Amino acid sequence: EKKPAKKDFLTLGELTSEEIRFLLKDAVYLKQLQKSGKPHPFLQGKVLGMIFEKSSTRTRVSFEVGMYQLGGQALFLSSRDIQLGRGETIHDTAKVLSRYIDGIMIRTFEHEKVEELAKHATIPVINGLTDAHHPTQVMADLLTIYEHKGKLQGLKLCYVGDGNNNMCHSLLEGAAKVGMDMTVACPAEFAPDETIVNHAKETAQETGSVIIIGEDPFEMVKDADVVVTDVFVSMGQEAETEEKLKKFSAYQVNESLCKYAKEDYIFLHCLPAHRGEEVSPEIIDGIHSVVFDEAENRLHVQKSILKNYM
Ligand code: CP
Ligand code: NVA
Repeated sequence: EKKPAKKDFLTLGELTSEEIRFLLKDAVYLKQLQKSGKPHPFLQGKVLGMIFEKSSTRTRVSFEVGMYQLGGQALFLSSRDIQLGRGETIHDTAKVLSRYIDGIMIRTFEHEKVEELAKHATIPVINGLTDAHHPTQVMADLLTIYEHKGKLQGLKLCYVGDGNNNMCHSLLEGAAKVGMDMTVACPAEFAPDETIVNHAKETAQETGSVIIIGEDPFEMVKDADVVVTDVFVSMGQEAETEEKLKKFSAYQVNESLCKYAKEDYIFLHCLPAHRGEEVSPEIIDGIHSVVFDEAENRLHVQKSILKNYM
């Protein structure tokens, strides 16, 4: 394991396997401290600014509570209220915030915006979701899988649904780095980004895992240890709702599909979920589902990220 070397936490593809393991280990440590009621003010006096251009429940609350538990403070900066929303540039926002605070978490649309912010900010930038990546969520997913399965390497994860999706992309990068096999079941027209897939396949070769993208959910889910899905209609895609729901009707995670997974599979969903669309109530509310452990782990992994980047 190795402490992350980069200034910013933008995608899992930019971290090494050792850095991912280091952050997960520190998350386990921080989780133990918090559970046993021991104060852990590693970020005393530090302030995180949180820019939100999209809605959030988990990301907003877990980052804010995480900063508080680490002895620091968080500022909620809705783009509706700050000048960024009225056309002030990312460049100027980055320069100004760097003079006041110690780190920025941003949730936005184009991934390039986060890269630009990181380029001009002298303080660490953490990606709290873009159209293309959701790396803090996948760190929480990896921790959750590890807690339930006792390992990551050698497991098989199957993602079912929209492949051209931030969760699918970050899972591909994360699975490859930790040596987990991953299959994606999606309609051909909603396949994940080719560059991300190719890069994940290269990484997988080094870590000894296999990445497969296919159209048949039954084939892809076969013998999976972990079954994952996400909403069919992501934030910003509201206009495509009707069309997407039609095209994804064969990709619901339900009992007839999960019969093909391993008997002791676990089900993950980053939430918010749409019961009856991407997942049936029996699965998300059933005994294989660990979605609330997963949601809780956002807090613990993000505290690890904050502690090691800020
Ligand atoms: N999973 C997740 O990022 O949830 P929020 O949109 O509520 O932050
Ligand atoms: N893919 C979803 C994830 C929400 C946390 C979205 O971008 O809306």
